[in-house]
Amino acid sequence: MGKELINWENGRWIGQTLEVENGVCAVPSIPAKDEAGELAYTDEVKAATDHLYDDVKDFIPEFEWPAYAPLVHAINKLKRQKNAVILAHNYMTPDIFNLVGDFRGDSLGLAIEATKTKADMIIQGGVHFMAETSKILCPNKKVFIPSMRAGCSLASSITGEDVKLIKQKYPGIPIVTYVNTSADVKAESDICCTSSNAVAIVEHITKERGVNKVIMLPDEFLAKNVAKQTDVQVISWHGRCEVHARFSAQDVRDMRAANPGVVVLAHPECPPEVVSESDFTGSTKAMSDYVGDHKPGKVILLTECSMSDNVAIANPGTDFVRPCNLCPHMKRVTLENIYECLKNETNEILIDEDMRDKAYDAVMRMIEVKFDPIKGHFDPKAKEKFIKVI
Ligand code: 13P
Ligand code: SF4
Repeated sequence: MGKELINWENGRWIGQTLEVENGVCAVPSIPAKDEAGELAYTDEVKAATDHLYDDVKDFIPEFEWPAYAPLVHAINKLKRQKNAVILAHNYMTPDIFNLVGDFRGDSLGLAIEATKTKADMIIQGGVHFMAETSKILCPNKKVFIPSMRAGCSLASSITGEDVKLIKQKYPGIPIVTYVNTSADVKAESDICCTSSNAVAIVEHITKERGVNKVIMLPDEFLAKNVAKQTDVQVISWHGRCEVHARFSAQDVRDMRAANPGVVVLAHPECPPEVVSESDFTGSTKAMSDYVGDHKPGKVILLTECSMSDNVAIANPGTDFVRPCNLCPHMKRVTLENIYECLKNETNEILIDEDMRDKAYDAVMRMIEVKFDPIKGHFDPKAKEKFIKVI
């Protein structure tokens, strides 16, 4: 694969140039703004952060550590002063995930943590819809997103108005909405789901409503993958995750040919033919748990780049082959803008109360459904099923 410089356009990564070498994405180097002299690499900072370097040594060159350490130290100090927590998604770069994240996990885990935290402030280490979900669940807390440009191709594929029209066209069919949507879409839905519980939620809501059909919005591929695992009929929307949609079945066959014996794990936002070629499919947490539990010699995670970086840190005995697809939105969150956000309380998430109230019901209904995590795994051998996409 060699060395590659990434700075895409047209909806892809448009920030600073990232260097990807053999599938490993270097953490963007930080030009720390330090007009007030708060971010100097002092003896105090060195003593407080030296022990953290080991976790990120494969991603941050030693000579760059003096630029990172003051930010890490300042963020961790501000969190204590302001009683703030950082909820870090598995796709955050290793510096954020490992050095300042207080809770780390998948979308469902982060939402559940938001309901439990005693903090006054939540900084979402993730994208805008995740921060909105935290605010929906915690109206009395201040919730911030480090970059307002951290969006999601799925969330921007549908609006609340679209859902209203769908409900008119398909009355009586429950609407299951992926959490990767904006608050107005959630507010129009019967229940939310994540990639961890999608099959369980579809079965739960249809049983509760006495029907055998759902409308699952907005991810066409997730809906198709769910449909293969259940007898419930699924109607979907044409949204796609721009990261996972780029993997193909041929990619998987090529990677297997180049890496005999490799175990292939896929996220259910991948196209169904990719899931069929995988050994295991589940949410980011399910993939991470799989590596921890099965300790494969060599593994491929068909998902966002930083996920492999973070799982590799926790599993030094496993060799990671990295077909790297960056999420440009997740990569808009940096240590630097987390620091700005905590210090100046910028980019607060605010939601109209009426909309929040309705969205709360859809998210809470999801959280209240108890499910067997094994039910959250997708059987790659399940037969393809035709579903209607509107
Ligand atoms: P999960 O962490 O819930 O698997 O979601 C993946 C994702 O794409 C979030 O943006
Ligand atoms: Fe959205 Fe895909 Fe990025 Fe997740 S990885 S935030 S689903 S674009």
